Amino acid sequence: MKRKVLVTGATSGFGKAIAEKFAASGDNIIITGRRQDRLQTLAENLSSSYGVEVLPLSFDVMDKTGVFENISGIPESWRPIDILINNAGLALGRDLFEDASLEDWETMIDTNLKGLMYVTKAALPLLNAEGAHIFNMGSIAGKEVYEKGNGYCATKHAVDAISKAMRIDLLSKGIRVTAIHPGAADTEFSKVRFKGNEAMAASVYAGYEPLLAENIADIVHYCAGLPQHVCINDLVVTCTAQANSFYLHRK
Ligand SMILES: NC(=O)c1ccc[n+]([C@@H]2O[C@H](COP(=O)([O-])OP(=O)(O)OC[C@H]3O[C@@H](n4cnc5c(N)ncnc54)[C@H](OP(=O)(O)O)[C@@H]3O)[C@@H](O)[C@H]2O)c1
Repeated sequence: MKRKVLVTGATSGFGKAIAEKFAASGDNIIITGRRQDRLQTLAENLSSSYGVEVLPLSFDVMDKTGVFENISGIPESWRPIDILINNAGLALGRDLFEDASLEDWETMIDTNLKGLMYVTKAALPLLNAEGAHIFNMGSIAGKEVYEKGNGYCATKHAVDAISKAMRIDLLSKGIRVTAIHPGAADTEFSKVRFKGNEAMAASVYAGYEPLLAENIADIVHYCAGLPQHVCINDLVVTCTAQANSFYLHRK
């Protein structure tokens, strides 16, 4: 049966790979992000490659009004939504607490935490009452705090907490909540974190084989395919070269 899947942050990285994975298995996908041109191209590629329906919705998850308008405006034919994947997020900067920028902190909090909460709250009335599944993209930074990770680690610890809270509060609705906490993965993440500095971004992934977006997409797809009475609550996923936030074996 074709499912209806909403994935935020589908213009690159995990979100794009997740959209592709679900489309390849025949599901219809609502893809979101701020970069409209990328959404349009992805929508055309997915529908022509896999014969599925794709609804591109361009909005900023930090914009509360925009989130509620876009999600409440999802056409009837796209409801109910079976799977919500809260993936949009970012890190900005890697500085000691005293040097970190207030604007970077605010953007990370507004995107990674408040954006995820707005999207979920807006989408709840549209979710399948027979059993929907919510995925929240956390991070290994939400499990362990590392030096110069202050603001980002705080937002991802909050994603860990809100995922636990959702799982409790949504229990009576039969909604599964899965939090995924990846380690280092080669996406546009570091390019964004280091504000376009390609050399710094590349150095993050030097000397070992990092996770790829497709690896996370496979895991999300697997979790979503389990029987309705089974929920993988929490997953920490690293590449084999990474033990945790502190130990990474580079050749
Ligand atoms: N890569 C890693 O090492 C890693 C590890 C652990 C966790 N994560 C988490 O995984 C998630 C996806 O990251 P990624 O690695 O795939 O990075 P990415 O390639 O930079 O993708 C991030 C996605 O989030 C979207 N996004 C960012 N800010 C947004 C906003 N204000 N409104 C709407 N969409 C927004 C971006 O779309 P637009 O720019 O088009 O809006 C983009 O599609 C994030 O939550 C990140 O924190 C990443």
